[in-house]
Amino acid sequence: MSAAAQKPEVSAAAPVLEARGVTKVYSVSAGLFAAPRPLTALAGVDLAIRAGSAIGLVGESGSGKSTLARLLLGIEQPTGGAVLFDGKPLGALSRRAVARRVQPVFQDPFGSLNPSHGVAEIIGLPLAVHRVGDKAARVAELIDQVGLPRRVADARPRELSGGQRQRVAIARALAIRPDVLVCDEPTSALDVSVQAQILNLLADLRRETGVALLLISHNLSVVGHLCERVAILYLGRVVEEGPAADVLAVPRHPYAKALAASVLSVGGTGLPDLGLGQEWPNPLAIPSGCRFHPRCPSVVDACRETDPALTGVPGGSADRHTACLRVAEGTL
Ligand SMILES: Nc1ncnc2c1ncn2[C@@H]1O[C@H](COP(=O)(O)OP(=O)(O)OP(=O)(O)O)[C@@H](O)[C@H]1O
Ligand SMILES: [Mg+2]
Repeated sequence: MSAAAQKPEVSAAAPVLEARGVTKVYSVSAGLFAAPRPLTALAGVDLAIRAGSAIGLVGESGSGKSTLARLLLGIEQPTGGAVLFDGKPLGALSRRAVARRVQPVFQDPFGSLNPSHGVAEIIGLPLAVHRVGDKAARVAELIDQVGLPRRVADARPRELSGGQRQRVAIARALAIRPDVLVCDEPTSALDVSVQAQILNLLADLRRETGVALLLISHNLSVVGHLCERVAILYLGRVVEEGPAADVLAVPRHPYAKALAASVLSVGGTGLPDLGLGQEWPNPLAIPSGCRFHPRCPSVVDACRETDPALTGVPGGSADRHTACLRVAEGTL
């Protein structure tokens, strides 16, 4: 059965993990004798992950996806705004308490697994740290649940395939029954042939365990298969947010349109061709007005001056939002 067919109904549950007006400014070197410069990786981002739901976060390289993931995992603190877990600031919880509820699945499973530990030891480590009882039985259950053969229990990560390694990382993330998995491009380091298997596994695990997913991807169609909502990030701003099926079928923001169209066309680099020219977005020089205007095929003068807010789409469903002046005024 495909991941799309397994997609549960849209959840109306309260947000379990939420970014509210989150800003993240890094200080970056500008050369040996120059003062460091501020780099705004996220600028006022709202994102709600509802209990048991799956939301996709899509955007080009450098748009701030991993930064938002680190803030939601409590690995880094926001410069402004707040990250809330069950309505309470994440910063008020200990690292250990956050890890109990929110777990990461990263892109490169090899880099995140201890090379000198066996599979059962890796999966069981969170159970030992959080003193969860009957470790052996739970590890065996997790090995089965992620579709690994029992015989790999003593294998080292280097003895496994890329897909098997990611299954180990997913089992470890699920060990202490977290509420949310933050998956940062969980399949992009894997062979194309196993990418769909891992996505199907995440869909199955969500259905079986009720864990909520944040799925980060470059690819709008990947999140469309797994998630009922999607947020599109451009240079640190959410420019479109809504039900994944609607955003994919009828994208409204010009950047969302380019992303949706690129699903069908792959450029010479092997990356989706957005058809937006060579102007690469630079977070050290965020354009005036709408930050997308230098690349926008539908730009008008007002876009160079006015920074559009994320607002409801006229004529769209109540839970569909776009940050585009022209969409808001009904001329696009
Ligand atoms: N620790 C840091 N210090 C300085 N700048 C950073 C740091 N982390 C991220 N950045 C910058 O913040 C911006 C957003 O980076 P981020 O890694 O969140 O992007 P991304 O959307 O995950 O990209 P990719 O698709 O390539 O993974 C980039 O311009 C990046 O260079
Ligand atoms: Mg990233």
